[in-house]
Amino acid sequence: MSKKYKILGLAGSLRKDSLNKGLIQAALELAPENMEIEDYTINNIPLYDEDLRASESPKAVIELKEKIRSSDGLLIATPEYNYSIPGVLKNAIDWISRPPAESPLNNKPLAIMGATGGISGTIRAQLHLRQIAVFTNMIVMNKPEILIPKAGDKFDKEGNLTDESTREHIKKFLIEYAKWIERVSIK
Ligand code: FNR
Repeated sequence: MSKKYKILGLAGSLRKDSLNKGLIQAALELAPENMEIEDYTINNIPLYDEDLRASESPKAVIELKEKIRSSDGLLIATPEYNYSIPGVLKNAIDWISRPPAESPLNNKPLAIMGATGGISGTIRAQLHLRQIAVFTNMIVMNKPEILIPKAGDKFDKEGNLTDESTREHIKKFLIEYAKWIERVSIK
């Protein structure tokens, strides 16, 4: 039997009705049999403070680092804020990435998704996240991509992704992600 990949799903938005949280939820449902996705929230991560890190890392940060370390890959769904990723997501990545020698992001496979109510489908935010992945030494899947414009029309009132073609796209994306992890994982 092939390996079951453990993936940690993070949304770069804190709000309850976030479209990007909705994307992670949809991914949980649509994951192939050889993939299990855990939905993890970054709501408890405090603002990065080097003094705090040097004395005692906050519990929420330690837990997130451990979750990432024990996962086979990360799945991040990011909104676009001012042509970039939201500060809350950058802040969480900053915490996880320090100190660099112990960063669980090092060589971690990453797949990116993004949804926006606007028309450009988080293109610029995703490019920024790819740039951040260079310094943090994550291994980013280039293709396929999930860039969802006008996403407000694609979820129902309960936050379920109802748009059939987007669901199909996510299904295929996750199948490709599993195959790609098998190819790039550093054993
Ligand atoms: C936005 N939004 C936005 N949209 C976009 O396409 N490009 C952008 O640069 C921005 N900038 C931006 C800045 C800030 C501070 C906010 C609050 C919003 C809109 C945003 O992407 C949209 O509201 C998403 O739906 C937010 O993601 P969640 O919370 O639904 O996951």
